[in-house]
Amino acid sequence: MTNALASAPGAILLVGAGKMGGALMESWLARGLPPALLSVLDPSPPPEVAKLIATKRIARDPQPPLLPMHAAVVLAVKPQMAPDVMPQIARFVGRDTVVVSIMAGRTLGFLGKHLPKGTAIVRAMPNMPAAIGRGITVAVPNARVKSAARELADALLSATGPVEWIKNEKWMDAVTAVSGSGPAYVFLLAESLARAGAAAGLPKALAARLARETVAGAGELLHRSTLDAAKLRENVTSPGGTTAAALKVLMSRSGLDPLMKKAVAAATRRSRQLAG
Ligand SMILES: NC(=O)c1ccc[n+]([C@@H]2O[C@H](COP(=O)([O-])OP(=O)(O)OC[C@H]3O[C@@H](n4cnc5c(N)ncnc54)[C@H](OP(=O)(O)O)[C@@H]3O)[C@@H](O)[C@H]2O)c1
Repeated sequence: MTNALASAPGAILLVGAGKMGGALMESWLARGLPPALLSVLDPSPPPEVAKLIATKRIARDPQPPLLPMHAAVVLAVKPQMAPDVMPQIARFVGRDTVVVSIMAGRTLGFLGKHLPKGTAIVRAMPNMPAAIGRGITVAVPNARVKSAARELADALLSATGPVEWIKNEKWMDAVTAVSGSGPAYVFLLAESLARAGAAAGLPKALAARLARETVAGAGELLHRSTLDAAKLRENVTSPGGTTAAALKVLMSRSGLDPLMKKAVAAATRRSRQLAG
């Protein structure tokens, strides 16, 4: 999708330019979206995003009657802001606009209720590594999304990493629990490994550095390799060795698998509750 945004079919409005909205905006500009096509609706973006908006002379707080209809409106405010924000959005949405929402838990049904009848809507769930162009996003379209709308939504979302399109919106709760919240589990792994290293007698700072670089390096190896995680694990485990001794604990009946299943189930349940 490189440079797919250089020829975006019309104006793009970003609503909410915080951590995730800011990351998206930066990636769109890096992928060649002309700043003149972009406008931002956010009363107080964080300083680094405000600086980018100012440097690139991106329009702030556009007034609908003065602008052509938007090709895409991207909603990146916190889900709890949705009831306040949705009524402001409808006026930017024309017949050919695709609305892309990355709000956790806000369903296609909820979004549709607040937008003009027949609006093409994509509900998406990115994750935090989007900030370095290494995210993964899952997207689900409503029935109004035809090929042009899907292409534009895909170009916008894939600027921060690959996009998996799904048909079953019900999966979004589990998606949120796996890839949306997943980066936090990996950070916890680094913390936990560091604490275990310190408990095994290492100075705290050394244990923290070793754990951090190990998680980052192994993640990068997994990213670059064509092998799956299980094969990579087997490749670094000699029979009867040190890794095998640790894995016997981690892969026991009370090891990581049942714990991770419980954690993902808890996040899935919470996502359902938040959807209301
Ligand atoms: N961060 C993640 O890892 C992640 C992952 C997947 C999905 N998401 C989703 O992405 C969305 C944004 O999350 P985030 O972490 O980027 O949040 P965030 O940093 O708080 O960004 C939201 C931005 O929207 C602004 N805002 C508030 N009210 C507004 C309004 N009425 N009109 C326009 N802008 C308004 C906020 O300003 P103030 O700060 O002044 O309120 C803030 O700058 C959420 O729905 C979240 O579920 C986030």
